[in-house]
Amino acid sequence: MGLLTGDMLGPLAVALAVFLLLLDLMQRRGCWAARYPPGPTPLPLLGNLLQMDFQNTLSYFDQLRHRFGNVFSLQLAWTPVVVLNGLDAVREALVCHSEDTADRPPMPIYEHLGFGPHSQGVILARYGREWREQRRFSLSMLRNLGLGKKSLEQWVAEEASCLCEAFADHAGRPFSPRALVDKAVSNVISSLTFGRRFEYDDPRFLKLLDRLQAGVEEDQGFLHEFLNSIPVLLRIPGLASKVFSAQKAFMALTDELIQECRMTWDPTQPPRDLTDGFLEEMEKAKGSPESSFNDENLRMVISDLFAAGMVSTSTTLTWALLLMILHPDVQRRVQQEIDEVIGRVQRPEMGDQTRMPFTMAVVHEVQRFGDIVPLGLPHMTSRDTEVQGFLIPKGTRIITNLSSVLKDEKIWKKPFRFYPEHFLDAQGRFVKQEAFMPFSAGRRVCLGEPLARMELFLFFTCLLQRFSFSVPAGQPRPSDHGVFSFLVAPAPYQLCAVPR
Ligand code: HEM
Ligand SMILES: *[C@@H]1O[C@H](CO)[C@@H](O)[C@H](O)[C@H]1NC(C)=O
Repeated sequence: MGLLTGDMLGPLAVALAVFLLLLDLMQRRGCWAARYPPGPTPLPLLGNLLQMDFQNTLSYFDQLRHRFGNVFSLQLAWTPVVVLNGLDAVREALVCHSEDTADRPPMPIYEHLGFGPHSQGVILARYGREWREQRRFSLSMLRNLGLGKKSLEQWVAEEASCLCEAFADHAGRPFSPRALVDKAVSNVISSLTFGRRFEYDDPRFLKLLDRLQAGVEEDQGFLHEFLNSIPVLLRIPGLASKVFSAQKAFMALTDELIQECRMTWDPTQPPRDLTDGFLEEMEKAKGSPESSFNDENLRMVISDLFAAGMVSTSTTLTWALLLMILHPDVQRRVQQEIDEVIGRVQRPEMGDQTRMPFTMAVVHEVQRFGDIVPLGLPHMTSRDTEVQGFLIPKGTRIITNLSSVLKDEKIWKKPFRFYPEHFLDAQGRFVKQEAFMPFSAGRRVCLGEPLARMELFLFFTCLLQRFSFSVPAGQPRPSDHGVFSFLVAPAPYQLCAVPR
């Protein structure tokens, strides 16, 4: 008992402090490498965590970029982070070294949702067999479902009609389009994951969308980063379910929907949706305990696709409508092109795109300007990698600043303006741009890109075919500055939709 009293305490504290500092140095030895990217001086244990202003991350990073250049480092507790800016650095890391940078950092924080070695979903899966299996599965299911009887394009077009009907109910009166756009986009992804759509006033649907939105918001901020950096804290009983209650609720609703699919699944029929396809793979994988086709992963994969497929596309469409009311001249030119190529009666089809260069340029410019995933998703190096002459050791978290590519001043004529001509040549033909990277690039490039492209084009043209949009009379012009809340979305705004 006398061991820890009086004289002993002082030396013991010193020894403990020395031990912790040594441990800290060991954990961070990567940063001592020659040619490691420069960055702000980290404190022991916490690194730069306390210096980060989580309310205003973007402007803090802006300062660092000015001080240290396009490639700089940060230390979040024991996690070394390297931030890449500009087309050259991002392309070199994601495209030239695509294999070395395809890993994701471990996210212990998601274990409370069921994330585990064989149930990693797709988005956050570590680079390895489980990720490869699920990425390949998702891509091939998306392809197959598009080619099925009721083709994907038709699904989207029908949902676009429902959305137009819902807009028509508000015609003439100012309203906020966000909630309706959310529903339409969710129904597209829901048709793929669960083979069904929901009525726009279905209470269960409303709850699902509400919990998804709230869940996305739980994924940001200091507490999230702090818990992920120091995951032992998650062992505190009840903490995870308190801090992540919306995500838990969203998963519970996903479970219900999966269960309903299961009850009507007929293994002798071709899969109606991704859930059917997954169940089929689970049957094939029976007896191989290593397979990533298992019950736990079913809900991870399906909820990943639902969340990724819904929030990003809907946010982009909300940007598109905002930019149309702010730039009525651009809106008119799109409508003119629609009238010439499609007319007022025919439904828009993907095939029309080749004859609609201006509309194509506008949709691309909406994505470039909207810049909704400014920092991409985190990557991690799986071996020592060189980028722009800097050495990035294995196990370093990489932040690809997609915003710095989409707004690279060396490339775009008017990086901070909405200017569809960025994607048009002198003859008015559509031109691709290498720095157009809203879906990222390399092995982890967004797997929903073709689906998103289809939704953006069809929803956008259907809406502009039917309505003219404007800032409601007497209301101030809404701002085109995005608000960062996991994704960058326009601040809530209202518009008027007048049938054409
Ligand atoms: C305008 C709409 C969209 C945008 C801007 C977007 C953007 C992105 C970005 C930036 C990433 C990160 C890539 C990386 O790690 O480097 C990503 C990943 C992903 N996206 Fe999308 N996305 C969109 C729509 C969709 C849709 C509709 C789906 C649904 C099928 C989807 C599914 C995914 C998945 C599963 C991943 C993870 C891929 C992986 O880790 O291998 N996305 N997306
Ligand atoms: C990303 O790029 C944008 C635009 O160039 C810049 O404002 C922002 O500070 C950058 N963020 C980071 C993390 O470097």
